[in-house]
Amino acid sequence: MEKNILCLAGDGIGPEIMDVTIPIVEKMCQKFNHVINLDKGLVGYAAYDEHEDTMPEVTWEKIKKSDGILFGSVGLPDRDAQVAPEMRPEKRALLPLRKEMGLSINIRPISVYAGLENLSPLSDEIAKGVNLTFLRELNSGMYFGKRQSDPDGKWASDECYYAKDEIERIARFAFELSRQTGQKVTSIDKANVLNAIGVFWRDTVVALHEKEFSDVELDHCLVDAFNLYMFTKPSEYKIVLTSNMYGDILSDGAAGIAGSLGLLPSASINPDNGFCLYEPSGGTAPDIAGQNKANPIAMILSSALLFRHTYKDEKAASHLEKIVQNVLAEGYRTGDLARSETSSDKILGTKEFAQAILKSI
Ligand code: NAD
Ligand code: IPM
Ligand code: MN
Repeated sequence: MEKNILCLAGDGIGPEIMDVTIPIVEKMCQKFNHVINLDKGLVGYAAYDEHEDTMPEVTWEKIKKSDGILFGSVGLPDRDAQVAPEMRPEKRALLPLRKEMGLSINIRPISVYAGLENLSPLSDEIAKGVNLTFLRELNSGMYFGKRQSDPDGKWASDECYYAKDEIERIARFAFELSRQTGQKVTSIDKANVLNAIGVFWRDTVVALHEKEFSDVELDHCLVDAFNLYMFTKPSEYKIVLTSNMYGDILSDGAAGIAGSLGLLPSASINPDNGFCLYEPSGGTAPDIAGQNKANPIAMILSSALLFRHTYKDEKAASHLEKIVQNVLAEGYRTGDLARSETSSDKILGTKEFAQAILKSI
């Protein structure tokens, strides 16, 4: 298959993890007989330095011409004070990109691989076999609701709005995945307190389930309780269906179960036209940027999702995922996964770790 893929590396560790992932993607394409036409673009403060705009028109043009995007990450808290609030990359680049391109389905898979339970801060017994797929709604909810602030500074409000079809869109994706995999869906809400949006979310999910998907297993969990159970009995959950805000919060916590935010990939999908964006779930990690310390796994596994969802090549995707597991199983780690001075882990830099993966393809 031939695809035009745009690489937007962004800020902080973005360029470092993108630079080492591109050769891996190219080698994978050679091995699996795919053609990739790679283009590069600027986003975030990297774009601001060139165009005085964190999301310049030239980047939009490149996006519109592509079949999919590999995205690093954007945002640097230290620079936010120097630009107008509307120019901050999260607000001007990332959220409009997700909305404009209709990327309403965000998949965040989290696994504790067999034999690698020691990566997790949880006990081996609890960590064993964890395999969670967060399905986060990405185009609505509190992220895109009405924002109001009192001109006198006495109150502020960010509305959480959901239309029925927006909830149904992500719930449908969850139920279809459940049908394919046989895994249970757990829908997260706060229906005991939020009598409008919490109850509406649950009722909409239940109604769609009854109408079209009564053959798949569905349960519901309140968000506060789920935030506990995720750490005490994570193996009881498989597909986790969430709103935009709950998915953001819970998936960072779930990355902690796996061992590091640097392990967590994501794919954001437009269910109508199949356009996808692939990015690590974590951010620009300013604390370690520019030091060859970032874990490239989240970006490399995001590129495995490119093979699964854009090239529709399951074999290639699982091949790359298996290689990442094997390299970890050999004891290679980046610093974020180092556990103790005495362990036999071999700590590598970003480039060296990615090199080990590249060699194994
Ligand atoms: P962060 O995710 O950048 O970092 C949180 C912690 O996780 C840090 O200790 C960091 O070192 C670690 N971490 C994250 N990715 C890692 C990796 N690949 N390897 C090793 N360690 C890793 O979150 P933050 O510090 O709250 O945010 C920094 C900036 O990133 C903010 O401006 C935020 O808005 C932005 N951000 C962007 C995205 C995105 O572009 N998709 C996502 C999240 C945060
Ligand atoms: C993420 C990030 C973004 C979000 C920010 C940077 C806008 O935290 O992708 O999880 O909140 O969605
Ligand atoms: Mn987040």
